[in-house]
Amino acid sequence: MQHDPLTAQKQAVPHEFDRVARRYDLLTGCNPGYKKHLRWSAERMQLAPTPDTEILDLCCGTGLSTEALVKTYPRARIVGLDASAGMLAVAAKKPWARDVRFVCGDAMDPAASGLAGPFDGILMAYGIRNMPDPDLCLARLLQLLRPGGTICFHEYSVRDSLRSRMIWNAVALGIIIPAGLLTSPGSDIYRYLRASVNDFDGVAAFEVRLAHAGFTNTRSQTMDGWQSGIVHSFLARRPA
Ligand SMILES: C[S@@+](CC[C@H](N)C(=O)[O-])C[C@H]1O[C@@H](n2cnc3c(N)ncnc32)[C@H](O)[C@@H]1O
Repeated sequence: MQHDPLTAQKQAVPHEFDRVARRYDLLTGCNPGYKKHLRWSAERMQLAPTPDTEILDLCCGTGLSTEALVKTYPRARIVGLDASAGMLAVAAKKPWARDVRFVCGDAMDPAASGLAGPFDGILMAYGIRNMPDPDLCLARLLQLLRPGGTICFHEYSVRDSLRSRMIWNAVALGIIIPAGLLTSPGSDIYRYLRASVNDFDGVAAFEVRLAHAGFTNTRSQTMDGWQSGIVHSFLARRPA
């Protein structure tokens, strides 16, 4: 099957993250609001704060999104999945205060890695944009959720607004790509980041995509700071 260049790059994304894993937290640490906004997405999921609550952190990377979940739902059982062994190695070294599990696998098919659910909540932070077939991914994620369960896609989306596109491209070209070149000179991942965000669905189109996949109660909320209108929590439910 022939793929366009961006789709081909998506398949190489976990390998590219292996190369930047050691510097990832340093770079995101320079991004004001990065951790706070992950926390907002975790809170917006409004899951039950009980020991029975099971949450999947898809594309967990070095565990920054996992940390947001642990802080918001300290009694829940949480499993993080990522395809980059390098990112997972950084996550696994962190001093998790409680039983958090990490699994290496493909977010396109978590069940193939033994994560069959059902989960009360799924958080996918900066993940869905990188899926080679987002509709197939969404169809599988719907099946992994418990009926009535909540999913949150924490993601860039700039297509619907000229202002958002201009700010995103200024930040990417002026700060993110130069900082990425300084910290990880051999990697192309930050140029890919700019292109993939420009290419991703607008807010309205992604909400329609979620509805077509069978999710209900689809809604979105944005962040503050430079990420306002650029990073969003897309929330949806599996019908009860
Ligand atoms: C930008 S990082 C986000 C990490 C974390 N969620 C956070 O918010 O900091 C994206 C992560 O998605 C992972 N990823 C990309 N494609 C994947 C796939 N097909 N399966 C599993 N993980 C994938 C990468 O390895 C990387 O760790």
